[in-house]
Amino acid sequence: MIELVPSILSANFAQLGAEALAAIDGGGTVLHLDVMDGHFVPNLTIGPPVVASLRKAIAKVPFDCHLMIENPDDYIGAFAEAGANWISVHQEACVHLNRTLHLIASHGCEPAVVINPATPVHMLDEVLDIVHHVLVMSVNPGFGAQKFIPGALRKIETLVQIRERRGLSFRIEVDGGVDLTTVSDVVRAGAELLVAGNAVLSCCKPRAGRRPCALRLNVLELTSLLLVVPRQTTVDEIGRSRHIVRVRRRQKRRNRCDIFRFAEAL
Ligand code: DX5
Ligand code: ZN
Repeated sequence: MIELVPSILSANFAQLGAEALAAIDGGGTVLHLDVMDGHFVPNLTIGPPVVASLRKAIAKVPFDCHLMIENPDDYIGAFAEAGANWISVHQEACVHLNRTLHLIASHGCEPAVVINPATPVHMLDEVLDIVHHVLVMSVNPGFGAQKFIPGALRKIETLVQIRERRGLSFRIEVDGGVDLTTVSDVVRAGAELLVAGNAVLSCCKPRAGRRPCALRLNVLELTSLLLVVPRQTTVDEIGRSRHIVRVRRRQKRRNRCDIFRFAEAL
C-alpha cells in the first residue's frame, strides 16, 4: 500500500500540532519527525520533548523518527519513551548497525535503516532481514525543500528486486524532494512510504489576505494531490487546469482508500 508520510520539517513550528494534524487529515497515515544534531548533518531540529508533546496531541498515527545524529544508541530509549513507533538510523552513522537495530526493537519500536545518496544499497545486505523498512534518501540529509536526486530511483528498484529474490518483507521509504513532479516516478520505482515535507507544509507559510481556513484547505489539497497527480504534472499546470477543484470534488465522493488505489495504479 502506498502511504504518504508528512514531514514536519517545513511546518511553522509555532503551530506544529495543528499543521501536523492538518497533514494527517489530508491523507497522511504516518508522521515523519526529522531529528538533527548539528554533527551528522549541518542542522539542528527537535529532540524527545517535542516528540512527546506531539504524541499527546496526535494519537492515531505511527511516529516515524528519522535520526540524523551521531551515536544514536544514546538516544533511542528517550525517543521510544517519548512516543516514537518507528526509529530509523543512518547506516553511515552506525559502527555497529546490527546492534543498533536490535536496540531499537528491544524498546518496542520498528527498526529501520537509512542510506544517503552516496551510499550503495549493498551496504545493507546483512540487515535487510531485520528491518521494518529501508529509507532511501533522495537528497543529502539536513534540509527540506531540496532538489530530488534521480539516482534514488535505481536504488528503490534494486531494493524491490532484492526483496523479491530473498523473500523478505521490509518496506521501502523515500525521503527528499518528493513533490507533485517526482511522486509518480518514486511510486513506479517501488517506494511505498512517501515522505514529503515542503510539498505538503510549505503552503502553510502565512500569506497576506488569506482567510483563516485557507491553511487547512491547502494542506488537505496538497497531501491528497501527492497521491493522485499524473506524471510530469506541475503545480502550476494543476492550478491552470482546475485539477484541484476536481480533486476536491472527488475527495468528497470517495474515501481515502480510493485515493491510495489510484496512486497504486499509476
Ligand atoms: C531532510 C529530511 C526530510 C525532509 C524532506 O534531511 O530528512 O525528511 O523533511 O523534505 P522535503 O520533502 O521538503 O524535501
Ligand atoms: Zn527525514
